[in-house]
Amino acid sequence: MTAVARANIALIKYWGKRSIDLNLPATGSISITLDALRTQTTLTLDPSLSADQLTLNGEQAEPRQLKKVSRFLNLMAGSAERPRANISSENSFPTGAGLASSASGFAALASAAAHALGLSHDSRKLSRIARQGSGSAARSIYGGFVEMKCGSGETDEDDYAVPLYDENYWDLRVLIAITDNKPKNIGSTEGMNQTKQSSPFYESWVETSEVDLNEMRDALSGRNFTRMGKLAEQSALKMHGLMLSSRPPLLYWNPATVEVIHKVWEMRNQGTEAYVTIDAGPQVKILCQSDTSTAIKKELGSVSGIQQIIETGLGSGVKIKEVN
Ligand code: DP6
Repeated sequence: MTAVARANIALIKYWGKRSIDLNLPATGSISITLDALRTQTTLTLDPSLSADQLTLNGEQAEPRQLKKVSRFLNLMAGSAERPRANISSENSFPTGAGLASSASGFAALASAAAHALGLSHDSRKLSRIARQGSGSAARSIYGGFVEMKCGSGETDEDDYAVPLYDENYWDLRVLIAITDNKPKNIGSTEGMNQTKQSSPFYESWVETSEVDLNEMRDALSGRNFTRMGKLAEQSALKMHGLMLSSRPPLLYWNPATVEVIHKVWEMRNQGTEAYVTIDAGPQVKILCQSDTSTAIKKELGSVSGIQQIIETGLGSGVKIKEVN
């Protein structure tokens, strides 16, 4: 069974968990699903295997990655006594460098495994399952504009993503400026834990999230680019401020990351509207509109630290590619 899912970037960020066991977020988040960043995952059940086999981008996965995937499949099957699986997953973009490969990865895996195991889950259920692989994966079940809901208790009944608008609602463009292709040093799960334990600002980050979410819903409903962009940039910078205030500090940026931010701000001062957002890595995603994306991409050519620019529009949610 083959499933294709796309990565997403959050306009209002998720950084912090209220519970680690079920991977429950401490706040809601809002994202857009990106057309060009895809993961294709093929999963075949093979009762003759004594252990799951996992290939990532053509190479045998590391033991810790295999362990995470096997646990996830146990959870989906409801038991560790299940047929083993052969899994092969390919990304169309650099893995582990803050381009949310875990989001598209777990969304694709959840969908492929559900079909292979004969589970007729609806999208909401699939989103709750994907969340247990990676919080942001819950959002990649849907295309376009997506909101991750956040419950309050110990259970996960209210922790799933919902679609806000599909990918055709608003022709936004995202330029992804790759400044480093290497995987990040500290993964999101560990980083979030570090922040929750040590940042003096964590509580206010959680408290102010509802206002941010409300304002973003409002900006999206009016397709207000300026408002959406300002809010998205503010949420990203607020999250990075929070990361920096952790002990030890989390600094995911490199010099080129900062260069790109300044370049985008300079363009904005000169009348070309674009906004930045950055996840747990050094890449900068530039939010822009279709009529200016080409000019902005050209202008970014003068930033020496950029290795590659990926241009993308919005894409659809997870899909099964072929039925075996
Ligand atoms: C900075 O979904 O990767 O990209 O739930 O621990 O797997 P886990 O975290 P993950 O975190 C994403 C964090 C972020 C912001 C966001 O996508 O909202």
